[in-house]
Amino acid sequence: MKNLIDIKDLSINEIEELIKVAKDIMQAPEKYYDKCKHKKLATLFFEPSTRTRLSFEAAMIELGGNVIGFSSADSSSTSKGESVADTIRVVGCYSDIIAMRHPKEGAPLVAAFKSTAPIINAGDGGHNHPTQTLTDLLTISCEKNRLDNLTIGLCGDLKFGRTVHSLITAMSRYKNIKFVLISPEELKIPEYIKQEILEKNNIEYVETEDIEEYMSELDILYMTRVQKERFFNEEDYIRLKDYYILNEAKLENAKKDLSIMHPLPRVNEIATEVDDDPRACYFRQALYGKYIRMALILKMLEID
Ligand code: NCD
Repeated sequence: MKNLIDIKDLSINEIEELIKVAKDIMQAPEKYYDKCKHKKLATLFFEPSTRTRLSFEAAMIELGGNVIGFSSADSSSTSKGESVADTIRVVGCYSDIIAMRHPKEGAPLVAAFKSTAPIINAGDGGHNHPTQTLTDLLTISCEKNRLDNLTIGLCGDLKFGRTVHSLITAMSRYKNIKFVLISPEELKIPEYIKQEILEKNNIEYVETEDIEEYMSELDILYMTRVQKERFFNEEDYIRLKDYYILNEAKLENAKKDLSIMHPLPRVNEIATEVDDDPRACYFRQALYGKYIRMALILKMLEID
């Protein structure tokens, strides 16, 4: 695999291998301290990020490598009018691997055609976010000890939430997965995900506006932020932003071993009182993100 643009670029076996390596790194990080000595990761973030960029950078540093890059389009030559294609051709001369986030859907794929270094899609518009999905899969594997036989509730902005699109794509390949898709009418899952992923693979799913309706059946509840930056008008965003606020009262009928996940950043969609609930695993999830990215960097650089 030269590039990681879509989660389907990885087979189920490759994902299993990445999870195995990530768990080994968690157990014995010292074995990995020098693995990427003299290697450079470039992080090109044309859109804001905290976890994704910093976890990539921390991952490379913990592997003994170095990091270069920028964290906003304004601080790169994009602001002078340079194309993504030209930026990538140049950055490929300075680095061994590139993680890139861009507001335009498909930009990392375009970059991959021009790049000499492998490209990792670190989020492209409202489309995909494969490394968040790897993070989510490692989280589910650690918290649940399985990736099959799960009822997964996805709640919030299912229309623009790229983490949701990639996670559904990934989980649809495992056995006996059911989805409960919880969103307001305006933020329902896009038709292409329904047709090309859910219906094509005969995956069971229901759509509801009510977060409590199926609560008692869920093994995982994946909350998401309403994606302000993808809205065309502020009025709609203001109307929808606080549509769901998960609190302890709403969890009353939930399973004792429910896992509450969130890719973060959180705005209002989970009340802070839930943070102390043992079922909340979103901060652990952020930590898992570093380990799976370490495993991914090793794989893409073909280091044992
Ligand atoms: C997500 C993203 O960028 O899509 N954040 C992340 O990478 N952890 C989710 C979000 O911004 O809401």
